[in-house]
Amino acid sequence: MKALILSGGRGTRLRPLTHTMAKQLVPVAGKPILGYVLDHIADAGIRNVGVIISPETGQEIKDYLGTGRRWGVRITYILQEEPLGLAHAVKTAQDFLGADDFVMYLGDNLLSYGVKQAVRRFRKERAEALIFLKEVDEPQRFGVAELGPGGDIRRLIEKPSSPPSNLALVGVYILSERIHEAISRIKPSRRGELEITDAIQELIEMGCTVKSEILEGWWLDTGKKDDLLQANTIVLDEYIKRSVAGRIDGKTQVVGRVDVTSGAVVRRSIIRGPVRIGRKSLIEDSFIGPYTSIGDGVTIRDSVIEHSVILNGASIEGIERLEDSLIGRGARVSRNDQRHKALRLMVGDDSTVEV
Ligand code: TTP
Repeated sequence: MKALILSGGRGTRLRPLTHTMAKQLVPVAGKPILGYVLDHIADAGIRNVGVIISPETGQEIKDYLGTGRRWGVRITYILQEEPLGLAHAVKTAQDFLGADDFVMYLGDNLLSYGVKQAVRRFRKERAEALIFLKEVDEPQRFGVAELGPGGDIRRLIEKPSSPPSNLALVGVYILSERIHEAISRIKPSRRGELEITDAIQELIEMGCTVKSEILEGWWLDTGKKDDLLQANTIVLDEYIKRSVAGRIDGKTQVVGRVDVTSGAVVRRSIIRGPVRIGRKSLIEDSFIGPYTSIGDGVTIRDSVIEHSVILNGASIEGIERLEDSLIGRGARVSRNDQRHKALRLMVGDDSTVEV
């Protein structure tokens, strides 16, 4: 069994962050999303891993993952010149995949638990595909599955106006080599992409068995700001343990599960967990509230921040209340003390500002 991790794509929904960084590398609770994906793959006992990269962000992905030794896996990088769809990514990786079964994992998706059990089940039951499904509130926004009596997939429909179920396709699939034949039979969709949903539907039409696994835990697609903040909330909730390695002065109060990494400095502040503060960050005269992830080298002074992700090198000064926000690398947010209260902004391309 091999793994194919999709780390190409355009990332338009996370602009402007994705103008300068790969969305799969945006940290959640201090660790890139792709790091959690590799954890799951390694945990399932898979050693041979292909990673799809794009010309724009490929180098950054390589810099982070390296040879894969950190996870005990061997990584082969596969360049996809253009993001022409998930099934196109599989086609691009055909030489790497050969005749093997493989787990396909979207590099910006997070699952509460890994794929170990499902891999075991796939091996035992010998289906041509096993796909992960999750009950969702608005199935109209997703690819949706219609199940037959034994849980086999009868039909897959992309963003249906009247959904046959509330079971959406999650970004993880276990596939056999038959998928290559199915992909060779499909045409690009209306949005010009070779869709994996269409390829799996084609498998069903070829008479193959496609099984499903309904996820009990959470699943997050981190491709948008609010989903990313939600991912941060859930991961901080599950993983953060109290650990204060940084320097905290006597006038600071640290409440609950707070991880202050070594080299961080906190003075005259209240930190209420779950919160993570990265290396070489400085917090002074501030309140850092629950569900906040602060990266490395961040400066926060005289501010109140809650439920936010602050990336490396950003600075926030004199802000009365910052909530539900995502602040990019090296960004500066500060109060304007002029009497007329005019806003003074220098906002990058594709940014969002709510005043
Ligand atoms: P998407 O989020 O569906 O696509 P995208 O990255 O182009 O994002 P946006 O809609 O914001 O522009 O992709 C899911 C994952 O698969 C993501 O990690 C990127 C990756 N991907 C590829 O590697 N190749 C592709 O051709 C596509 C479409 C996605």
